[in-house]
Amino acid sequence: MDRYAVFGHPISHSRSPWIHSHFAQQTGQPLLYTAVDVNPESFESAVLEFFADGGRGLNITVPFKERACAMAETCSPEVAISGAANTLYVNSMGALCAENTDGHGLLADLQENHGAVLVNARILLLGAGGAVRGVLPALLSQSPQQICILNRSPDKARLLAEQFNGETEVMAINPESRQSGGFDFIINGTSAGLGGEVPRVPVGALTKDTWCYDMMYGRGETAFQKWARLAGARKSLDGAGMLVEQAARAFAIWRGSKPQTEAVIALLRKELSAP
Ligand code: ATR
Repeated sequence: MDRYAVFGHPISHSRSPWIHSHFAQQTGQPLLYTAVDVNPESFESAVLEFFADGGRGLNITVPFKERACAMAETCSPEVAISGAANTLYVNSMGALCAENTDGHGLLADLQENHGAVLVNARILLLGAGGAVRGVLPALLSQSPQQICILNRSPDKARLLAEQFNGETEVMAINPESRQSGGFDFIINGTSAGLGGEVPRVPVGALTKDTWCYDMMYGRGETAFQKWARLAGARKSLDGAGMLVEQAARAFAIWRGSKPQTEAVIALLRKELSAP
């Protein structure tokens, strides 16, 4: 049976084996997908061994996404620009290839599952770590009017904005700024939610027309989702759909066919709401 795995540290929280087993069932393509807690000292050798033993594909999660990018022989433009990879495979020439499917997952969930329109939109991105860096190329590909980045440590937001500023204006802002007119989308890419916190957002950033999206997900509403709902946002979405969509993209890269995601997202939501 074709073997796949997700490498991370820690990894017990990963839902990837569950998601891929549903994809396998649905597409009638039996495969073995495991979660592996990899010792940070031996990440690169673990990857090489996995493929040398005939493994077909890897997902890579925290804290190895940058190292996966660094060791790849070829990579997608998204990986080159973000410096982080979440999907690895070996191509027909024997080269280790890296992709980042997070941005695609976010776009697919926003646009295909929820009907969002990003063209000409004003987007506020919260955070300036790997999660935000990973989805920036995909967001820019949709030609929004402007992307503002706000981060607890302002220097990181400034550096990221400088790197990505171009045809679409990308600029760093601070929480004290006043945002007249509000944003069309506020996307939370911070890990503040892990501690039940909500990152600071400038006055006026959220209006009744704003869509709020938390790249995190959990049991019930995330802290950011709850904040957005209570603040009167038009939509308040979590990242469960993005998780399934990024997995579907990886599956398509490895197997050549994209699984249906709707039923798996619905199942995941059911799982997450179970006591
Ligand atoms: P990831 O790969 O998940 O993005 P990361 O690179 O460690 O992880 O980035 C975490 C992001 O969440 C950072 O932008 C971080 O802000 P700092 O750069 O100031 O550390 C942000 N973050 C974490 N906890 C936060 C909190 N309680 N409030 C606001 N931002 C927070």
